[in-house]
Amino acid sequence: MLQGKHIVLGISGSIAAYKAAVLARLLIKRGAEVQIVITPAGKEFITPITLSALTSKPVISEFFSGRDGTWNSHVDIGLWADAMLVAPATAATIGKMAHGIADNMLITTYLSMKSPVFVAPAMDLDMCAHPSTEDNLRLLEQRGVRVIEPSEGFLASHLEGKGRMQEPEVIVQALEDFFALGKDLAGRRALITAGPTYEPLDPVRFLGNHSTGRMGIALANELHRRGAEVCLVLGPSALRPAPGVEVISVQTAQQMLEASRAHVASADIAIFAAAVADYRPAERREHKIKRESEGELVLQLVKNPDIAATLAQDKRPGQLFVGFALESGSGEAEAQAKLKRKGLDAIVLNSLEDEGAGFGHLTNKISILTPDTPMRSYPLKSKEAVAGDIVDFIRSTISGETHA
Ligand code: C5P
Repeated sequence: MLQGKHIVLGISGSIAAYKAAVLARLLIKRGAEVQIVITPAGKEFITPITLSALTSKPVISEFFSGRDGTWNSHVDIGLWADAMLVAPATAATIGKMAHGIADNMLITTYLSMKSPVFVAPAMDLDMCAHPSTEDNLRLLEQRGVRVIEPSEGFLASHLEGKGRMQEPEVIVQALEDFFALGKDLAGRRALITAGPTYEPLDPVRFLGNHSTGRMGIALANELHRRGAEVCLVLGPSALRPAPGVEVISVQTAQQMLEASRAHVASADIAIFAAAVADYRPAERREHKIKRESEGELVLQLVKNPDIAATLAQDKRPGQLFVGFALESGSGEAEAQAKLKRKGLDAIVLNSLEDEGAGFGHLTNKISILTPDTPMRSYPLKSKEAVAGDIVDFIRSTISGETHA
């Protein structure tokens, strides 16, 4: 239910705007209060009169009222809202949201929004598949915007493909699911390691790996959204978590260990999602290594500390420590052994053989193992959805539910 929720419904100029009337109606039926903000192009597709009649509120589209010059405060709307939903979201509106082009009331409202934002894209299949649209959507996702993926089907252009705005029922369900979860981890503290580590050879070179940090960042965002206080110890990564997650940026495994050590004692939950380099060069040269003066170069590597295993040695009762294992083959036996060896409470296993899982992918396919319950396997999902499953597991474990 959406009882009492304040929803800002942003409508942009797509033929799917006709569905926004049904959407507004459904939101109100579920108990929400709806404030519509429409772009100038949106008004070409659906009239403000229809929408204000449905929502019992004036529809906002201009910065100032043409009649009496009253200023429409996007800041106040941003504070009032429990969520903003942009449906339909055109390629232009998505692009403006991604790049802060605040030339209409919908975008200024979005930029003032303090609450979660959902977008339901609607556009022709080629626009939907264009790299600029894809990049803009991914950029918004990285900043915590939830994308309600368009479906495939018959489009206004008479072509068939991906780009149809989801049906109003599906969109409302996404909002209901979101609010149903609530802040079930309020008062808990979480520590997460994520990303690769870079182990320097000299001032310009390093040993590293292809981890993007996406899985750990998705976990940080999910825990934060559900009310936990989150500290993310992040190796070199181009990605950033949602505002509100504390980030400690590190480069090397040793720095990651020290930063994590400083925060682990106060954490109820620790998740080790980082792809830590197992070895580092025995020495870091002060000057750039030069081919001319070296001949054959032999690197000597020394072992890095195992952050998860080191910190698990001082684990207090009541703390929950979760690790990751990336294995070839099914990996169950290796993951089970790793769980014991490192002293963890659970391990999230992804197999290198599962297509679309692990490093560099937007998706992941996981199983969760504990020392004393059967392995639970999940289907291939976006890393954000996988984070939801892992956090569900964590929440039910710390609240003492059984997983048999
Ligand atoms: O041993 P392996 O690298 O497969 O273990 C993976 C798990 O251990 C992950 O949770 C990873 O974050 C953690 N790890 C660590 N420090 C290391 C190596 C791995 O915390 N040096």
